[in-house]
Amino acid sequence: MPPVSRLVLPILAALSAMGATACGGSAAPESDGAATAAVTFHEAAWTPPREADIPADSLGASIRRGLHLLRFTPESLPAYAASNLRCTSCHQDDGLRPTAAPLTGSHARFPKYMGRSGAVIALADRVNYCFTRSLAGNAIPVGSREMTDILAYLAFISKDVPVGTKIAGAEGLIAMPEQLDGDAVRGKELYVAKTCVTCHGPDGAGNMPIPPLWGAKSYSIGASMARIERAASFIMHNMPQTAPGTLTAQEAFDLAAYIDAQPRPDSPGKESDFPMGGAPEDTPYDTQGHKAFRPPPLLPRGNPKGAIVPNPRVTRDVKP
Ligand code: HEC
Ligand code: HEC
Repeated sequence: MPPVSRLVLPILAALSAMGATACGGSAAPESDGAATAAVTFHEAAWTPPREADIPADSLGASIRRGLHLLRFTPESLPAYAASNLRCTSCHQDDGLRPTAAPLTGSHARFPKYMGRSGAVIALADRVNYCFTRSLAGNAIPVGSREMTDILAYLAFISKDVPVGTKIAGAEGLIAMPEQLDGDAVRGKELYVAKTCVTCHGPDGAGNMPIPPLWGAKSYSIGASMARIERAASFIMHNMPQTAPGTLTAQEAFDLAAYIDAQPRPDSPGKESDFPMGGAPEDTPYDTQGHKAFRPPPLLPRGNPKGAIVPNPRVTRDVKP
């Protein structure tokens, strides 16, 4: 893999090349539902700051630490990041890649309503959803130095993005144009034919820094990536790492169906997701009014309590 510094320039070029077309199509973030539909977004021409722009002061030191936590998550925070995934395993190119759930502008998109939580949540809680679900780990304390550093980096790559503005290529994984029926048997063949196996391994366990796709060290059932449509989008636009953009939508759905049918860590509390109903069709576990879609075998979690991010408390419920 090329070092990240060599990756940044082509990404910036890709960001500007994507221009207007990327804004139009980048719909459907994971579960924001009705609440985002009511917001009028304005599109803004904008280029994210790069690592070289990080200031040489105390704030810069915090931003730089945040960036390194994203790049080396299990190495830096083994008690919290229990899997072999880094934040940048999915949010590729330091969170700047438009097709890989970009983190650019996220500081200007929160607090926001998430249908999955049934509540308005702050950016720190959103970060913790990725710690507990995508990294199958534990929530990091909201007031900690580490959380502040991560938020400092997210604010840095959101610089000059007006609050409530939709920026080119950002906000979640690009919605797949249509829901296709992924076939896990074809997906298993494609896993070999399309070279996934050479990097991610026959057992899906990866080989650090190549992340695992299933098993005890992979993302949990409660991660967005455990939904076939979300995984298909990531795969179609970003994989194979050596030749992104070469798979058809059907191949991406087949690969996603195969990968998401494999065993992975449980996500304690998942049955309380979507408390108002409205879970996407491919949610792989039962929730209010929804029957699990092709649920994978589950592996137990070491610290189920740490895996839960409580909904925001109401001040009147708290005794001083
Ligand atoms: C297994 C893949 C994966 C990993 C690893 C991961 N994330 Fe995410 N994250 C996602 C996906 C996918 C989304 C967007 C959801 C969608 O579009 O469906 C997301 C969304 C987010 C968002 C909200 C972005 C926005 O503007 O709405 C933040 C912030 C975030 N992740 C931070 C992190 C951090 C910090 C880490 C490391 C601790 C991390 N993520 C690790 C997959 C991942
Ligand atoms: C040349 C090695 C290579 C090949 C081939 C490859 N990947 Fe990846 N894959 C990676 C790396 C490295 C990452 C982490 C992203 C990063 O560090 O930039 C990744 C990340 C991923 C992720 C998100 C993170 C996770 O572990 O869940 C998925 C899903 C994925 N790859 C699926 C696939 C599929 C499906 C194929 C085959 C079509 C494939 N990959 C082929 C190297 C590869």
